[in-house]
Formats: sequence, C-alpha cells, structure tokens
Amino acid sequence: MTPVFLVTGAAGFIGSHSVDWLLRHGWRVVGVDNLRTGRLDNLADARSSPNFTLVIADAGDEAVMRPLFQQHRFAGALHLAALVSVPESFREPGLNYRLNLATADSLARWCLDHDCKRLVFASSAAVYGTSAPLPNRESTLPQPQSPYAAAKLAAEIMLLGYAASYGLEAVCLRYFNVYGPRQDPGSPYSGVLSIFTNRFQRGLPVTVYGDGEQTRDFISVRDVAECNGRALTRQSVQSGRYNVCTGQAVSLKQVLVVYRDLFPNAPPAQFASSRIGDIRHSLGDPALLQGMLRYNAQTSFARGLRELVLNHG
Ligand code: UD1
Repeated sequence: MTPVFLVTGAAGFIGSHSVDWLLRHGWRVVGVDNLRTGRLDNLADARSSPNFTLVIADAGDEAVMRPLFQQHRFAGALHLAALVSVPESFREPGLNYRLNLATADSLARWCLDHDCKRLVFASSAAVYGTSAPLPNRESTLPQPQSPYAAAKLAAEIMLLGYAASYGLEAVCLRYFNVYGPRQDPGSPYSGVLSIFTNRFQRGLPVTVYGDGEQTRDFISVRDVAECNGRALTRQSVQSGRYNVCTGQAVSLKQVLVVYRDLFPNAPPAQFASSRIGDIRHSLGDPALLQGMLRYNAQTSFARGLRELVLNHG
C-alpha cells in the first residue's frame, strides 16, 4: 500500500503546492483545510487526482482529526494550517494561541497516539525578531516580537520536547519570505511580491515603503514545497529547527529592476514612509537544511518572479 500523508492547510498557498508535490511524487494525500484563508481553487489539480482526499475541517477539531488518524495510519503529517497574518495575531491573540500553538500541540499528540512518526511543522523566520545577527542561524536565541512569532516558537518547543520525550520526529521549518503563484494579494500585509504583481498587471503604480534598500531572503514556493516534501518523505531526518531560505538578500530596488523588464510600460513606483515595525534586512543561512535534505533552492529570484507574473490572476 502506498503510504498516506496528512497535510493541514492544504488549500493554502504553501499547502496546495506541497500537496501537488506529494501527488507528483506518487504519494497519497489527505488534505485538511477549514477554508478560513485557503481557497478550493488552489487545489484544482489535486482534486482531480484519485490519490487525494480533501476534508473541510479545522485541523484542531479532535472529533474530525482522531478518526482520520485512525482510518489512514498516516506515515507523516505536514502541519501548515495557521493564522497567517501577523497583524491579525495582535488583534486576536486568543485565536492566534489556538490556531498557531494549541493545534500544533494537539496534532503532535495525535501523531504519537496513532503511530504517525513524523510531524513537519511550518514555523517562521519571524521567531528571530529584529535584532538577531545576519544571516540568521538556527543556533541564535530567538526573540519573537509578535503573538504570531511567539506562538510559532512555543509550538517548535512543544514539538521538540515531544521529540526528546517520545521519539516523535519533529522537523520545524522556519520559512523566510515565500513567494509564488497562488499567494493572495488581498491585504496590505500580503507578501510584497503578490501585491506588486497584482498592481503591475492592472497597470497601477506600486508603493514602496521606505527607501527601497530594505532586503529580504525571497524563496520560491516551488523550492519550499520541495523542502516540505523531502522533509516529510525522506527515510531519515533529524528533529530540529531549520531555516527555509536561499541565503541571498534582494532589495526592493532590485525587485523593481526585475519587474521593469516584465512590465516596461508600468507607471513609476511611488515611495512612502517606512512601515512601523518594518525590518530593514532579513537573511537566513540555509546550510543546516541543505545538509539534511541534500537540496539547495533551485529557483533564481528573476526566474521565480517571471513565473509568478506568468501564473498570476
Ligand atoms: C514578513 C511577514 C510579516 C512579519 C515579518 C516578520 C509576509 C507576507 N509578511 O514581513 O507578517 O511580521 O515577516 O518577520 O511574509 N512593502 C512595500 N510595499 C508593499 C508591501 C510591502 O514596500 O506594497 C515592503 C514592506 O514594507 C517590507 C518589504 O516590502 O519592507 C517586505 O514586506 P512583506 O512582504 O510584507 O514581508 P516582511 O516585511 O518581511
């Protein structure tokens, strides 16, 4: 029998690409999503596969999840379901606690109870905070500065505690700035590349907050899905926390240069004052995950952005 993997947040941006990766590699997948921020459209390909089952439910709903674990005897779980907006975590700390910490803890315990050996967890570069030395390394002391980052870090600690206590294989992946097709441009706090692409395609000017010299470690969702898939399915992994990044810093000004090639007639960018709390530079060291998965991010920024523009909308 082909092993079955659980993916929570399956209809989300990263979730749907991860489901596609698993199906492409011949695995069976049960996806769970409550469609709070996920979209069924993202799963259009997956839903035509006989190897995919979608369950519309909250990943923390024990009445739904325990029977799923019993029925499918999952070989591993990829936990991506989350409250994904940092500003929302400030407004709704109780919801943030439930969705970003309590559900991760529940899933880890259901894995242990039902012999699902591995849990791959979506953490975030946000756990490093603003004052960690660059590039961020996993050995750095994290300093979360939002309820979101605090819950992600607390979930990492719970999962790694279960790894030490009960032998769960817990792989916590700290995503840096993920971009690519299916990222929702709908809020001002959506990823900058989804917003810029959406605006350029409508012939509208983009707004750069600050001087445009701020840098980010942008990683394509294709590479992220590959890391997720490998972390979930490879024979052996080492429990721990791992950066998912490229190790390359790209400034917003450099971003605009690539867009200029793709939209030569676009109106010039407008500049506005920096956002409160904005980080100047974010950059990760990818070495630890590269060593474990034998995989380097393959998509150059220019190619990834071109692909995003061609697949958008
Ligand atoms: C990311 C998270 C954010 C989190 C932070 C902490 C995303 C989408 N956001 O923010 O929730 O608090 O990490 O690590 O992953 N920008 C513009 N114009 C726009 C939109 C954004 O100039 O229209 C700028 C922002 O001010 C920022 C940069 O682009 O300087 C990147 O913004 P964004 O994509 O929101 O990501 P982070 O700031 O890294």
